[in-house]
Amino acid sequence: MPGTGAVPTTAAVPASGAVPTTGAASLPGAVPTTGAMPAAGLPTGQPAAFSPEMARRDFPILHRTVNGHPLVWLDNGATTQKPRQVIEAVAGFYGAANSNIHRGAHTMAREATEAYEGGRAAVAQFLGAASPDDIVFVRGTTEAINLVAQTWGRANLGPGDDILVPVLEHHSNIVPWQLIAKETRARVVPVPLQADGRIDLDKYADLLSMRTQLVAISQASNVLGTVPPVKEMTALAHRYGAKVLVDGAQAVAHFPVDVQDLDADFYVFSGHKLFAPTGIGALYAKPEILQQMTPWQGGGNMIESVDFGRTTFAPVPHLLEAGTGHISGVVGMLAALNWLTAFDRDAIAAYETSLMAYAQQALATVPGLEVIGSAPERIAVLTFTLAGHDPAEIAAWLDRDGIAIRAGHHCAQPALAHYGLESAARASLALYNTSEEVDQLVASLHRLQQAT
Ligand code: ALA
Repeated sequence: MPGTGAVPTTAAVPASGAVPTTGAASLPGAVPTTGAMPAAGLPTGQPAAFSPEMARRDFPILHRTVNGHPLVWLDNGATTQKPRQVIEAVAGFYGAANSNIHRGAHTMAREATEAYEGGRAAVAQFLGAASPDDIVFVRGTTEAINLVAQTWGRANLGPGDDILVPVLEHHSNIVPWQLIAKETRARVVPVPLQADGRIDLDKYADLLSMRTQLVAISQASNVLGTVPPVKEMTALAHRYGAKVLVDGAQAVAHFPVDVQDLDADFYVFSGHKLFAPTGIGALYAKPEILQQMTPWQGGGNMIESVDFGRTTFAPVPHLLEAGTGHISGVVGMLAALNWLTAFDRDAIAAYETSLMAYAQQALATVPGLEVIGSAPERIAVLTFTLAGHDPAEIAAWLDRDGIAIRAGHHCAQPALAHYGLESAARASLALYNTSEEVDQLVASLHRLQQAT
């Protein structure tokens, strides 16, 4: 899938506050003016062989420089970059196909509706859901979890009920539960970790009880990389009648997911960590649970009829999608899913595992560097400390070499506190990263140690 070069590779972010002084005639001619919506449905043929070099060619941004150096993007846990297929699909939508959906009786509305519902069908296929009706579009993982907390949680939690949440969770899988627990007088119960960052499964089994209404668990940790045995943990929770919400935000880009095989009651993810635009994500729920969910926001699109005496509602998933959705986001997500699933995903996972092993060995050569978390099952996330250097200083040093990592608490303060830390540096890898980029990271860290 070589790039066509049609996508700009120079920074083209609108100047803040500046009113354009050139007219519409300066619009770049690269915007498609013919309908160019991504194909509906995911590729069904033989997957393409995968190589990081081949994947990289599709990402214009990976060919820019930062501070005079080729960009090394190692902040994929925060967000992934977008292939030209996604950029072109979004530009194509606005350039040739922009319309609201569902309510317009014209060709454009019909086409936009088809693209939007095609995106829903593709997400269902991607997750192994039985039906597109099991998929609700949301802004992202955070909104999906808040939606479940505010609808299912409000209806099903009560005084004395437990919500089990492993200590490694992202704040977005802790705070919504704290908020609804306070209102319903339920309890959020942390599930402890072992020293290596695995969930303590004995303690988990001990904490489960008939009081447990929900287990909220990540399929991959954004800070420790841990991939817990979600399927087994779900089966155990179900023995107590508890529901299980799986946060797939950090998992979906790294390995194939099958929500029916996991037997997850809820599964949530964000498009932007999956090569798709920001502001679009999805919630999967089992149909029998979704049918019971009540609206959390009211407005257009989620009703059948409105009357001051009696309003009737649309069926799920539309019931949970008040207002105009992020239509171009769905178009971009469809393009991202098409792009990703055209590759052999097992080959991607194997490549990332080998790159991770390489990175671990290479980082071990840096004096004073300590990686946090060493669970045997992990995604390619390396969170570390470097003796004598604050994580923010490490990130700033690497940035001077064009290397982007994240520093801070990673929205997972309890996970860092487990290691006695408030802050750490994190390199998070994606399928387009290479061993040469890892070498550049490690060389820069060596230089930092030598310089001080
Ligand atoms: N959740 C994202 C991260 O871990 C923002 O960086």
